[in-house]
This record gives sequence, C-alpha cells and structure tokens, in this order.
Amino acid sequence: MCPESDGSSASAGRTFLVTGRDGQIGYELRRALAPLGHVIAPTLEELDFTRPDSIRAVVRASRPAVIVNAAAYTAVDRAESEPALCSAINADAPGLLAEEAERVGAVLVHYSTDYVFDGTKGTPYVETDAPNPLNVYGATKLAGEQAIASASSVFLILRTARVYGARGDNFMRTMMRFAREKPELRVVCDQVGAPTWSRSLAEATALVLARLLGVDGLPPGEAVAPWSGIYHLTAAGITSWYEFARAILEADPNRAAHRCTSLVPVPASEYPTLARRPPNSALDNGKLREKLGLALPHWREQLALVMEDLA
Ligand SMILES: NC(=O)c1ccc[n+]([C@@H]2O[C@H](COP(=O)([O-])OP(=O)(O)OC[C@H]3O[C@@H](n4cnc5c(N)ncnc54)[C@H](OP(=O)(O)O)[C@@H]3O)[C@@H](O)[C@H]2O)c1
Repeated sequence: MCPESDGSSASAGRTFLVTGRDGQIGYELRRALAPLGHVIAPTLEELDFTRPDSIRAVVRASRPAVIVNAAAYTAVDRAESEPALCSAINADAPGLLAEEAERVGAVLVHYSTDYVFDGTKGTPYVETDAPNPLNVYGATKLAGEQAIASASSVFLILRTARVYGARGDNFMRTMMRFAREKPELRVVCDQVGAPTWSRSLAEATALVLARLLGVDGLPPGEAVAPWSGIYHLTAAGITSWYEFARAILEADPNRAAHRCTSLVPVPASEYPTLARRPPNSALDNGKLREKLGLALPHWREQLALVMEDLA
C-alpha cells in the first residue's frame, strides 16, 4: 500500500484511507488531508471495488479513523451499457465500505451526485427533496447512498456536481481541447448547475474533518455523529454548460492556439446522449452553510484559480 504522508505533522496521528487515488477528487484529497494525519491511498491493484475481498482486506489492515471514498464508476454514458459493473462499484462497494467502517470504528465520507435528481424542480435541490435518477449512473449512486445509510450509523455523504480541474477527464479540459481542434463548438444551453473545482471539494472535505475531529479524546464516530448525514456541496452560482464553456474559452491561457471562432448554444434535444441528464442540477448548499459553517466560492472565482494554475 502506498503511504502518502508520514504523519509527522499529524494533529492526532489518525489514518485517513483515500480511495480513487488518481481520480479528480482523490488526487486532491491526498494533498488536502496530509496535514491531518497519515494518508493511505491504495492502488487499483490493492483495492478494487469489483473485488469485495480487497475492500475488507484493506480496511481491516489499515484500521483507518476516516475513509474518504472518491472511487466511483463515473462514465455516465457508458454506464447505460454496463449497469452491473456500475452498480458493483457505485452501490455494492460503498455499502461494503460502510460495513467495514462500522466494524473498525471509522467514519465514512462519500461523494454522491446531482444526478440522483430528475432536474424537473424549478429551484435548487435541497437534501430532503425526493431523488428520481434519470440514468444508470444516477440510480447506482443513489443505491450507494442508501447502502451506506443502512450499513453505518455515522457517515457524511457529500453530493456534488460538474467536477473539473487541471487533471482528469472533465468538461473544462474537453472544451479547451476541442477549441484547439474544431472551428465551431455547439454546447448545451438548457441544462444548468454549478461547475465545481476538484481541489475545492478536497479542501472543503479536509476542513470539515479537521473541525469535526478536532474534539480531543472523542473517537471519530462519536465526534462526527451529531453531523452525520447528506450534504450538498458545490460552488456558488448556477450556469449552463454553454455559459461555462464560454467562460472557459475566454480564460484559457492557451487561447491564441484556438481554431474555434464560433461557440453555438444548442438545446439538449439537439445533442442526444446515451444517458438522459437532468435539466436542473443546481444543489442548494444551505444545510452545509448552517450546520458546518462552510460555503464554496462562486464557480467563476474557482475557474479563475484553475486557469491561474494552468498559466
Ligand atoms: N466528475 C463529476 O462531474 C462528478 C459529479 C458529481 C459527483 N461526482 C462524484 O465524485 C466522486 C469522485 O469523482 P471524480 O470526478 O473524482 O471521479 P474520477 O476522476 O472518474 O475518479 C474515479 C476514481 O475511481 C477509481 N475507480 C474506478 N473503478 C474502480 C474500481 N473498480 N476500484 C477502485 N477504484 C476504482 C478510478 O481509478 P482509475 O483512474 O484507475 O480508473 C479513479 O481513481 C465520485 O463519487 C463521483 O460519483 C463526480
């Protein structure tokens, strides 16, 4: 297993087990959690969500105080033709992680998605709104939430949306590549949500954990128990894919290399995809603000920071 930090600066010598080590959020978590303790981030060979035994073995061997689950099957369109695999990774594995967390007295932090909703609500979704996923990915993520809630007594489920950053497969990087390759880009303008920077999600997770675990002497489960539940965690502001694409292309430090001279807004009906997507993906972050005292900056501020990094 790959140790990520020696824990020398640990406030309490706690072990944090991070799954999905090379994913958008997992990669950032390894850095963001390092000041809090000893971070363990197994490789896919060591921890494969399609092999339940590997989940049991890793948790039992590392006995973490906190498991932060950033591993998932995230190929939303491909999921339509691989429902069993998607379900094993997004629903069964988080359920087993929750069972194992309970067994070793760890707290499970898990990420979920705006795609648990059907997007027909006229205002941002709150945590108590009824989910109704439109696609396989969303249905398996919802099943993962339910499996966690039934297997463990203390957990934090953070629903986020439209994750992007300097690494990984994401909308921002796709738009920047297409702008270099194509003269015209047609982007959906009638699906709205909040694009959210992977690093801000990892940092917010670390901040929440630092605060909740900061009470000396309490085991992690007891320290987090009063806050256990589902929270919506996205950047502030709401925008369409089209407006986000426009902001990306304007801010791209490499815009001199763009071939694209025309960015065209199109309705989702003109851009058919294998998986249906919710028209309204906006998540109300009020509960997070009120209970945990935390709010992420506006998506435009986050985009500016990512672009600064890229420049
Ligand atoms: N991306 C978004 O827009 C978005 C939106 C809302 C919620 N979320 C949620 O946020 C979380 C993190 O998303 P992300 O964007 O960081 O995802 P990501 O970049 O696709 O990373 C997913 C990670 O999961 C790992 N993984 C895949 N199959 C696995 C398996 N069988 N066993 C163990 N690990 C496996 C991947 O490993 P490999 O790299 O080796 O395949 C990768 O490290 C997920 O729960 C996702 O549902 C994401």
